[in-house]
Amino acid sequence: MSTSRHLLATTCLAGVLAAGVADAAEVNVYSGRHYDTDAELYENFTAETGITVNLIEGNAEELVERIKAEGANSPADVLITVDAGRLYRADQEGLFQPVQSAVLNERIPAEFRHPDGHWFGYTTRMRVIYYNKDTIDPALVQTYEDLTRPELAGEVCLRSGSNIYNLSLLGSLIEHHGEAAARDWAAGVVANFARPPEGGDTDQIKGVGTGQCGVAVANHYYYVRLMTSDDPADQAVVESTGIVFPNQDGPDQDGRGAHVNISGAGVVANAPNRDNAVAFLEYLSSPSAQTYFIAGNNEFPTVEGVEWENPYLAELGAMDVKRDTVPVAVFGTHQQLAQVIMDEVGWK
Ligand SMILES: [Fe+2]
Repeated sequence: MSTSRHLLATTCLAGVLAAGVADAAEVNVYSGRHYDTDAELYENFTAETGITVNLIEGNAEELVERIKAEGANSPADVLITVDAGRLYRADQEGLFQPVQSAVLNERIPAEFRHPDGHWFGYTTRMRVIYYNKDTIDPALVQTYEDLTRPELAGEVCLRSGSNIYNLSLLGSLIEHHGEAAARDWAAGVVANFARPPEGGDTDQIKGVGTGQCGVAVANHYYYVRLMTSDDPADQAVVESTGIVFPNQDGPDQDGRGAHVNISGAGVVANAPNRDNAVAFLEYLSSPSAQTYFIAGNNEFPTVEGVEWENPYLAELGAMDVKRDTVPVAVFGTHQQLAQVIMDEVGWK
């Protein structure tokens, strides 16, 4: 989004705030997602409903702080962000209100929404394993638990232990194995680090592709971005990097499925345009919006039964991947403990 458009939207919201009344044909959306295709999606909502979307984009922490600072007068109707752990944090700040919508409850599976309707998941993403095809036998990295194997000493790259994606992944291990085993796992991963945590998800994949790391963990859509890049360096990374959707087979926990997280949204506690906000959330779960999300960032729909295809995900064999069905809300409830463990084991 351009700066001028950003300012325009901000000005418009200030007008709403000054008037102190809701405009019947508006919804003010604060979004921590940054994909151009999302803006087109919102335009389609306006075309269908006549409700104008005023979009404020920013990083998730800034948006949460902004809504807190605006308090009871906040013009925010909807907050969109990625990772159930971030939605949990916003909810802990009291930023959301409960929404009871038969449409949303029917379309979105229970494991992808807050039990009382504080937020709803619209897309899913998998956090998966990458390996260097020249140096690592993929048989060694079929599960998250494999990352602690002694054969992988000096091979493993992951980003910071304070990163929300990693906190949610560790939260899933706490849920499945309990605190002590999760701590052992985190310590085992740190013991296998190829380098101190640095960079984002894409940097972990590039680390594998360039041979700095034998193994890495990152969300699946970053790999698709590299697949679709024109940069020869990115193509070289894809060429030398294999992808594993973890925990597909095996007894008990080994076959529980790949760790799945969401991007989601909720209606803000003091939303001046509450009805429009609910209509917007319902729109995001519509088949057309769901397929739009999939094309935009190569994520998966949360709504079952949506007809969709994605050539890149098909090429990766991602269409039939078994996913962990643990409710994503537990990543939030385990988040504080996950951070304590990360700090204890020196996962910086
Ligand atoms: Fe991401």
